[in-house]
Amino acid sequence: MSPSLWGGRFSAPPAEVLKRFNDSLSFDRALLAEDVAGSVAWARALEKAGALTPAETKKLVRGLETIARRAAEDPESVPRGGHEDVHSYVETTLFATVGEVAGKLHTGRSRNDQVATDLRLWLKGAIAEARGDLLGLAAMLASRAGEEAATPLPGYTHLKRAEPVTFGHWCLAYVEMLLRDADRLDAALKRGDECPLGAGALSGTPVAIDREALARSLSFARPTANSLDAVSDRDLGADYLYGAALLLGHLSRMAEDLIFFQTDECRFVELPDALSTGSSRMPQKKNPDVLELVRGHAGRAIGELTGFLALTKGIPLAYDKDLQLDKEPLFRTRETLALALAALSPLVGGLKLHRERMAEAAADERLLATALADALARRGIPFRTAHEIVGKRFAEAERAGRSLRDLGPTDEITEEDLDAVDLERVLARRDVVGGTAPRRVARAARAASARIARLARETAPGGKGRNR
Ligand code: ARG
Repeated sequence: MSPSLWGGRFSAPPAEVLKRFNDSLSFDRALLAEDVAGSVAWARALEKAGALTPAETKKLVRGLETIARRAAEDPESVPRGGHEDVHSYVETTLFATVGEVAGKLHTGRSRNDQVATDLRLWLKGAIAEARGDLLGLAAMLASRAGEEAATPLPGYTHLKRAEPVTFGHWCLAYVEMLLRDADRLDAALKRGDECPLGAGALSGTPVAIDREALARSLSFARPTANSLDAVSDRDLGADYLYGAALLLGHLSRMAEDLIFFQTDECRFVELPDALSTGSSRMPQKKNPDVLELVRGHAGRAIGELTGFLALTKGIPLAYDKDLQLDKEPLFRTRETLALALAALSPLVGGLKLHRERMAEAAADERLLATALADALARRGIPFRTAHEIVGKRFAEAERAGRSLRDLGPTDEITEEDLDAVDLERVLARRDVVGGTAPRRVARAARAASARIARLARETAPGGKGRNR
């Protein structure tokens, strides 16, 4: 018989509305694998502490592994209701699988340290997954950057044509953002790589558990240092949501750039058909829905972070039930992030570039005015004066509806100055670390690819690979 987890002191069964409001199995069933892993480690730790016999431990571990296997083979076999939460579901199922010995598993443990442990294990998986997926996109961008190191693209500030850059340089800007995202996730993981199990309900377990060994057995770097903190700390969740929100913010910026580049007005790039949508009314339409969804999801991810911070800010020590609501924002964010990255990698890989249109737009004189002022400055004219001269000449050309080239030299602007106003030469001159000169971009792309490959080979510190 499996007793209810806490029925002993009650004279009435839980009301229907209590169950509906209180139960969390409908969503925390996603933690089953982590819950079982934590329980297996706990059973073994109890055995080492002399609280379970080897035979009891063996029975419990076998039963738990059966439960995990069944759930992995058929995730739908895990119910969405009828039990309070995943912890009670696993325990009840364990009673049905191995009998009365199941009642010994919860010795010295609480659902408070249990759920904190489950969630950390899950977060480690979620972070490792995000890191792997984002490095995949970064690798794709770096490879395209290598191919397009010399492909001109108009660069913008205030969304006004500013100075030419190359498409490869544009790709590498997002690589930098993604590499910072990877680093941020790694740092969060390193900081949060602690095992709460053994903190008990709030004061520490009374069983003589070797918590260092227990932490290691679950692939944590160390045990948590304070039991009150351990059962209520959700910082790793907040770090994950912040890392995800910022990452999605970067993806959203990239989406916004690409939406602009693929407009009928620009037509610099074309999205792969398989990742575009059509209109039910306008037969000619090819829409960038994927990119717009990424932009929208980035907004929602900020909301998840904000909600999470608000949820956890007023939690008196130690555990409070508010904390049950920590899970869904994390689950939703992982789902979103995985889908967004899975869609963006092939989208970037399959982008068709209209190189002639990009080059033509990048050669627009407006983008080369700075270079003309630079040419004057190279002859010793103070840059401020050169800026003024070129600005005036530019306004004249605009009024006349002609190009600077057409208007020809003046006593201040020589023929050689005008020769400097050449797209290829302008690009080649940005030959500094971090500049857009094609040879720099080619070199930076190679360095980025190598760095990404190195990062992808190292697993995330303390990371656990994929598990959901
Ligand atoms: N379902 C609960 C949660 O997610 C598990 C912990 C319950 N602990 C408690 N003291 N009621 O937070």
